[in-house]
Amino acid sequence: MSQLKLSKDSWSSQTVFVMAAVGSAVGLGNLWKFPYITGEYGGGAFVLVYLACILLIGIPVLFSEFILGRAGKANPVQAMANVARENGASRLWSLIGFNGVLAGVLILSFYSVIAGWAVAYFFESLQGSFIGIDAASVGVHFSTLLASPYQLLFWHTVVSVFTILVVAKGVKGGIEKAINFLMPGLFLILLVLLGYSTTTGAFIESFDFLFSPDFSKLSWEAVLVAMGHAFFTLSIGMGAMMVYGSYLSREYSIVRAGLWIAFADTLIALLAGLVIFSIVFANGLEPGSGPGLLFQTLPVAFGDMTGGWFFGTLFFALVVMAALSSAISIIEPVVSWFDQNWGINRFKAAWIMGILIWILGIGTVLSFNSWQAVHIFGEKTLFDTLDFLTTNIMLPLGGLFMTVFVAWVLKDEIRNSELPLSDKMMRVFMFVLRWVAPIAVILVFVSNLASEEN
Ligand code: PFF
Ligand code: NA
Repeated sequence: MSQLKLSKDSWSSQTVFVMAAVGSAVGLGNLWKFPYITGEYGGGAFVLVYLACILLIGIPVLFSEFILGRAGKANPVQAMANVARENGASRLWSLIGFNGVLAGVLILSFYSVIAGWAVAYFFESLQGSFIGIDAASVGVHFSTLLASPYQLLFWHTVVSVFTILVVAKGVKGGIEKAINFLMPGLFLILLVLLGYSTTTGAFIESFDFLFSPDFSKLSWEAVLVAMGHAFFTLSIGMGAMMVYGSYLSREYSIVRAGLWIAFADTLIALLAGLVIFSIVFANGLEPGSGPGLLFQTLPVAFGDMTGGWFFGTLFFALVVMAALSSAISIIEPVVSWFDQNWGINRFKAAWIMGILIWILGIGTVLSFNSWQAVHIFGEKTLFDTLDFLTTNIMLPLGGLFMTVFVAWVLKDEIRNSELPLSDKMMRVFMFVLRWVAPIAVILVFVSNLASEEN
């Protein structure tokens, strides 16, 4: 995704659009984040709430974002200003765009650091460090990496430079082609891992952990995190999908694209979870061990299985590419805004914002070592705070206002032409968009504020 001039050019083929949007959605959120937060919040009940959020909030927001992007035809700030003008609404709606631009900058600052872990693991795997490794040694490996600010900074820098180069130079074609084998590749390796996880003796336990809900483990905080993750994992609430929508040709079905993206994204996350928790339980590891979960478990599987060196190295390469195809979509709203509204061309904008994001990322790097004891909110490190603020507050807030706009402000003709649904389906969709999604988001926010005060 790049060369995003004012959206004159539309997608070379609509498949490419779906691929790029899937490339944005599928990333660290599925492989790294979903398993570890599921582990922290106790499994089944959390997963159920997450799935409900995808269905009742995520998909409607995703449709809304594509509609706004296609109708507004510009970067998120300008697209919102355009649709607001066209529908006789206040210019203040473009605040949704600002919120998104800011959220993107903050998200990428930590996303790049975590993607750096995957790059480090790719090289480790390539060198054969994981062959025959046991869970305890993988743990030591991971803590050693995290303990070194210089190593983390180095890999964060590698990811940042790479992301900037892709976005600045606009090697759109390359990335689009890469996604074509990236997604099937990731899916196939997950199937190989799934096969392995059935041999660990803990597959059923893992399945139960993910799919038998124990509601006593659920708190309002867990619900907020599940909802926030639905936004994060689908790349919604900040305008990334709006940018993609602005390239979508009129004929293409938003419904079909949106459903396909949500399905692929959810499938990859659940597969990753099944595999990772099989390894967790087979090796007596702790499900709630936090952000390191993916990195403390999968090397054990690769170290143990036939062809592990090959699959492991390929897997981490694919994780890096999945992260990269998401990263470019995270920075895209701000770059296209600079380019279209401020006359700062794509090349300059990518470097300016990339360097700013790189500097902010140093805070996340240090959160795992030197600044580990520095708490911003309650027990939260700087990384935890950035993650919480963006994923659980800024994205849902952005998404809330998008649904409100599409449900209440957008003219019926525009909505109907953007979303050609049968009467019955439109009524269902409008009900969800008008009431279910916004009320759910507000309810979760309010309940969290209320439960915090107690
Ligand atoms: N959806 C991506 C993931 O699951 O890794 C992360 C992401 C991409 C979040 C783009 C937000 C965004 F705008
Ligand atoms: Na995702």
